Amino acid sequence: MMWSGCGVEVTLAIVALVALFIYLTSNLDYWKKRGFPQIPGKPLPLFGNTFQMLTGRKSFSDMFEKLYKDAGDLPFAGMFHGTQPCLLVKDPELIKRILIKDFHAFMNRGFEIDEDLDPLNAKALSSLKGQRWKNMRARLSPTFTSGRMKAMLPMMQACSDELLKCLEEDIRKNSGEALVEMKLFMIYPKLIKKLNLRLSVDEASVFFRNFVEEAVKRREEAIDKGEGNGFGDFLHHLVLLKKTGIKVNEIKEEDDEDKNEFIKGDKEVSEVSWANISVDDLAAQAMLFFGAGFETTAALLSSTLYELSKPGNGKEIQGRVREEVDRVMKEDGGKITYEGLKRMQLLDRVLNETLRIHPPAGALSRIAVENYTIPGTDLKIEKNTMIFISTYSMQHDEKFFSEPSKFDPDRFLHRNEWNHFSFLPFGDGPRLCIGERFAMLQVRQSLASLLSKFEFDLCVEKTPVPLKYAKVSFILASETGIWVKAKLRS
Ligand code: HEM
Ligand SMILES: *[C@@H]1O[C@H](CO)[C@@H](O)[C@H](O)[C@H]1NC(C)=O
Ligand SMILES: *[C@@H]1O[C@H](CO)[C@@H](O)[C@H](O)[C@H]1NC(C)=O
Ligand SMILES: *[C@@H]1O[C@H](CO)[C@@H](O)[C@H](O)[C@H]1NC(C)=O
Repeated sequence: MMWSGCGVEVTLAIVALVALFIYLTSNLDYWKKRGFPQIPGKPLPLFGNTFQMLTGRKSFSDMFEKLYKDAGDLPFAGMFHGTQPCLLVKDPELIKRILIKDFHAFMNRGFEIDEDLDPLNAKALSSLKGQRWKNMRARLSPTFTSGRMKAMLPMMQACSDELLKCLEEDIRKNSGEALVEMKLFMIYPKLIKKLNLRLSVDEASVFFRNFVEEAVKRREEAIDKGEGNGFGDFLHHLVLLKKTGIKVNEIKEEDDEDKNEFIKGDKEVSEVSWANISVDDLAAQAMLFFGAGFETTAALLSSTLYELSKPGNGKEIQGRVREEVDRVMKEDGGKITYEGLKRMQLLDRVLNETLRIHPPAGALSRIAVENYTIPGTDLKIEKNTMIFISTYSMQHDEKFFSEPSKFDPDRFLHRNEWNHFSFLPFGDGPRLCIGERFAMLQVRQSLASLLSKFEFDLCVEKTPVPLKYAKVSFILASETGIWVKAKLRS
């Protein structure tokens, strides 16, 4: 009896396993059946082509770098992320179609977040879909125009003054040289103290909900008393709009250069009202800006300092950038101004070259929202297929950038020598990074003020050259941290 009972169980287990195996392998011929070229090599059941990533052996960008290389000269290649069929797209022309020309067919980003379980992340602009995304994007866009950015510069300046003061004290205490790790804390010292970054999703949601509720109340009161003009930051703008209940199509921005024609032309969007927005909606965007926004900005600033403090040509370029900063500041009476930052062209090329080599977001994704036939072929990308664009790999591809691992800001001197769609650190099209201008202004401002006061050398004992990226990070970040020695300029 015991044996036969056990036998039944074993048989059942085997049947279940076989069934599971058939189920798991059943879609591995997904791409073949549809006539798509595939990444060479057999995808594994359950793990697809991303075994090393799913088991923590490769970072997201290393994984996509490998797949990109394996795909060779294919303009696009079918693959499996786990069991999910996805398309890796390499061809700049097709990328342009997906991101811009045929955006309507690839409107969403394709992460599934359960709104009941994790409402704030689900309501964040980056994860919203379809009409809800359009409405929220239309509401938020006016917050990020150059006029608004210019108004935020003093706030950024105050942040970096704080940093300069801390750093200077540190240097004086340590007999002329301080060893510092470049990280988020460096850039937003006050903010990070307030915000314990080790929060779980639930704790973070509670934190941001309370934070926004409190801030909204305070600012509504301030606006009521007519003293609302001193804040100048995102939240203030958002609260003002919410309070006045203004409709999106009534927002007049003196410099409305937002290129989102896709959204502007949308009838439903123009009826969207700010009055209808909830505290949760606001808290979700605040959490997104703090999380995704500031960490990427900090990563860009750190990797720029890394490149500029590397022995050899890094130090030489640091000298050249400092000369430019000194010259422009002198022209502007010793200050860093909005117009001055625009004139720091080498600084801009340095930032672009850093974004090319170390793009904080290593890849872009879209999801097909309708069936889409790839132009010039009869291959159909089916609705709900995930699309990946490995920006990191394209920016390191010899085909697009000669000597790709060489840090050479002057390659950006010749605008028409690089294919625009092979360099997408902020994405492109109606869904591109909404914070690009904010991030670039912030980083320009911080770098210019740091270089005007200090000299940096990489601490090569603690920071490997070339940089190693952390394996378990959502953004490209150094595994060891970036350590530099800072001295006051002589
Ligand atoms: C150097 C810093 C930054 C980099 C490299 C970066 C990069 C990116 C990239 C690659 C995307 C995806 C774009 C696409 O799919 O086409 C994105 C989206 C986004 N970024 Fe950034 N970002 C940075 C800073 C910021 C900042 C400071 C903010 C907010 C203040 C921000 C807010 C967003 C939002 C809200 C989205 C989603 C937009 C949407 O879905 O409509 N980012 N970012
Ligand atoms: C306001 O919000 C409610 C509930 O979310 C929604 O049903 C309604 O359509 C919204 N109205 C406008 C004008 O957006
Ligand atoms: C930097 O790259 C952007 C594209 O992201 C481009 O529009 C800009 O002109 C570049 N800047 C310089 C100085 O090359
Ligand atoms: C999309 O393609 C699938 C499979 O080829 C088909 O079953 C489905 O009906 C198509 N959907 C639309 C809206 O055409």
